Amino acid sequence: MYKIIEKQKLSETITKLVIESPRVAKKRKAGNFVMIRVKEGGERIPITIADSDIEKGTVSIIVQAIGKTTKMLCSLKEGEYVLDFVGPLGEPTPIENFGRVVCIGGGVGTAEVYPIAKALRDAGNEVIGIIGARSKDLIILEKEMGEVCNKLYITTDDGSYQGKGFVSDQLQDLINSGMKIDGVYAIGPIPMMKVCANVTRPFGIKTYVSLNPIMVDGTGMCGGCRVTVGGKMKFACVDGPEFDAHEVDFDELIMRNRTYADLETISDKTYEEHVCKLEGVK
Ligand SMILES: Cc1cc2nc3c(=O)[nH]c(=O)nc-3n(C[C@H](O)[C@H](O)[C@H](O)COP(=O)(O)OP(=O)(O)OC[C@H]3O[C@@H](n4cnc5c(N)ncnc54)[C@H](O)[C@@H]3O)c2cc1C
Ligand code: FES
Repeated sequence: MYKIIEKQKLSETITKLVIESPRVAKKRKAGNFVMIRVKEGGERIPITIADSDIEKGTVSIIVQAIGKTTKMLCSLKEGEYVLDFVGPLGEPTPIENFGRVVCIGGGVGTAEVYPIAKALRDAGNEVIGIIGARSKDLIILEKEMGEVCNKLYITTDDGSYQGKGFVSDQLQDLINSGMKIDGVYAIGPIPMMKVCANVTRPFGIKTYVSLNPIMVDGTGMCGGCRVTVGGKMKFACVDGPEFDAHEVDFDELIMRNRTYADLETISDKTYEEHVCKLEGVK
């Protein structure tokens, strides 16, 4: 059992949880994730490690409540527990001194790009950040990203905060302005990562994305997270989750992620409609 030490709501649907797990805190590197099971009989879900504190033995995760399990996780209170917290999993992000790197986070993808931006800054890179969301109230980690980036751009789809448009528009603007870019890390919804890959491809800028296929065990045994990269079959949980963006078959990933859409909708609806008979019992 893993105790929730701290809980903070970052937006209507996004919650930060600080969880006690000294061993994960000690071993994790930027880009690693954990597999979480909230309670007995529940499904396992992968969540990126956003930060850790070795002294306190805690790990921070940032979760967007979009379906049954993430809603259940975000509804837990400080002092409550999650059943399983397995990690650190996945290949750590390749961190080196590239020169000038652009780190892009779309929506909750900002939580995943933040530890990478921090590690790239510590490795001596000049880090340019671009974070975006649909509207102002969905922007997360502005302060944290501002602290690790030499320059931070913010975009909102509806123009309610800073630049109007998509994060990929801002990336295109930087390239058009003649800025020399040595590498790009783009993490967020699949269409966003696909567009960022298309923006950098003509300029030959090395671009990494973090893929989010369905994961079941996170250890390379179930085959659930199969993706095609450079024409070869890869398992995102052990070969990734980060890959060369110009080699990823995004359309196949989108199609495979829809496999359980009907069942996920039913499960989410049932969870929303469920009324716990124990609520209010002292
Ligand atoms: C390596 C990795 C890191 C991730 N990091 C984060 C993170 O830091 N914060 C965050 O909020 N989300 C993260 N996700 C996504 C998160 O795992 C899904 O949102 C979550 O599993 C949805 O579960 P649900 O029951 O709430 O929703 P559902 O209604 O079951 O599903 C909603 C969406 O999530 C996808 N999904 C469902 N189950 C899984 C699964 N087992 N594995 C992967 N995707 C699934 C579905 O394809 C669907 O598009 C990450 C995914 C991966 C693969
Ligand atoms: S999640 Fe099972 S093989 Fe990757």
